[in-house]
Amino acid sequence: MFFKGLVPKAAAFGLAVAVLSAMPGCKRAQDAEFVVGPKVKELDATLQEAVTAAVRGEFGTPSLPTTPLHADLELKEKETELRRLRHGRDLYVQQCEQCHGTSGDGNGPAAKYMYPRPRDYRAGIFKFTTTPYGAKPRRSDLLRTVDRGVSGTCMPSFRLLPKFDREAIVDYVLLLTHRGEVETRIALEAEFEEEVDSEVVPDLMDEVFTRWETAEEQEVHPLTVQPVEFSDEMVAAGKEAFLTKGCAKCHGEDGRGMTKDNLGKDAWGFATKAADLTSGHLHGGAEPIDIYRRIISGINGTPMPGFRTILQQEPESIWNLVAYVKHVAGQRRAGNVPVPGAFRKDTPESGTLDVAAVGDTAAAN
Ligand code: HEC
Ligand code: HEC
Repeated sequence: MFFKGLVPKAAAFGLAVAVLSAMPGCKRAQDAEFVVGPKVKELDATLQEAVTAAVRGEFGTPSLPTTPLHADLELKEKETELRRLRHGRDLYVQQCEQCHGTSGDGNGPAAKYMYPRPRDYRAGIFKFTTTPYGAKPRRSDLLRTVDRGVSGTCMPSFRLLPKFDREAIVDYVLLLTHRGEVETRIALEAEFEEEVDSEVVPDLMDEVFTRWETAEEQEVHPLTVQPVEFSDEMVAAGKEAFLTKGCAKCHGEDGRGMTKDNLGKDAWGFATKAADLTSGHLHGGAEPIDIYRRIISGINGTPMPGFRTILQQEPESIWNLVAYVKHVAGQRRAGNVPVPGAFRKDTPESGTLDVAAVGDTAAAN
């Protein structure tokens, strides 16, 4: 038998795969094809076909997914990893696909009316990371999002799934995001060269995978130690920084955010607005370190800039800002409901907000 000699965990997993594959919910993946990405669609039919074939050669299809990351594994290890990937695929189809789509394009049948929209993984851009602005997330960042969900959005928590399953799903999400990025690179190259040169494909893939690999070593640590307590003095100093360092320009003086869509589009092409910090739902997590990382590293793909350059000379300001954000975020719970009203009086008209000079936005993804 195939599993003979493997650890019990893997055997149990094999059983799970067998059971899952027999379930009707998994049928769709058997028939599905990955949707062609936007850059490929711009090419003529012959080039489209060539790009699609090259990408399929590296990443397979939804029914038989694979990844170049397994290329150097020993046969036996490769088989184990492939089974794990298919297990991740099956779970993805059951738990994620309705929102994130078969290809991870964020366009599943349930996605249309959601704000924010489910993530389109194909651009390789993720918001809630522990890495610097513009860097890829670490694997553990994706796992954390799957564990916690994104509070205040449609993204649920999957904490109740066994750890092994969550890990397998993340592997599959990584496949989809790597695939999307590689597809775009090959399409751009094809547009330029008017052919798909199979000798260049490994280099293009290398560029993508290297950035993911380096991100693993790039965890952002606070510049100063986290205070034991967030005192009223810190909240007051944080408010002062909030008003003087540019935060209020986007979030409003009271942190409620601008209710008008005056910040343009995000990296995925959807209208965006500054977060309402009083909503009680901090999307990127409510722990002080989560808030700290949002401030120092910004939020990839959105207008929220990183403030490392501006604040590294006065690192205590960052913890003060965290204190203020925590304070503002906890107000509703404390019964201090902010004054209602759909639009703020001091909201500038669409497009008039000058935020270009604020923060670290140059090193976009
Ligand atoms: C009901 C819809 C829905 C389902 C089901 C769902 N998601 Fe999401 N997901 C979202 C939305 C909406 C966002 C965007 C949140 C944001 O931008 O703040 C998101 C964002 C994400 C992100 C990006 C986080 C970041 O840092 O940018 C990941 C990763 C993710 N989801 C993984 C999953 C996985 C894996 C599953 C299945 C186990 C899943 N999602 C199921 C709606 C969903
Ligand atoms: C150029 C406009 C802009 C500026 C300036 C700005 N922000 Fe933001 N901020 C945003 C946007 C847009 C989001 C929402 C990103 C998203 O889509 O998730 C955000 C999100 C956040 C979040 C995350 C909220 C959550 O749900 O987890 C925090 C915390 C935050 N901002 C704090 C600050 C602080 C503190 C400053 C000043 C040091 C600041 N922001 C400056 C635009 C801005």
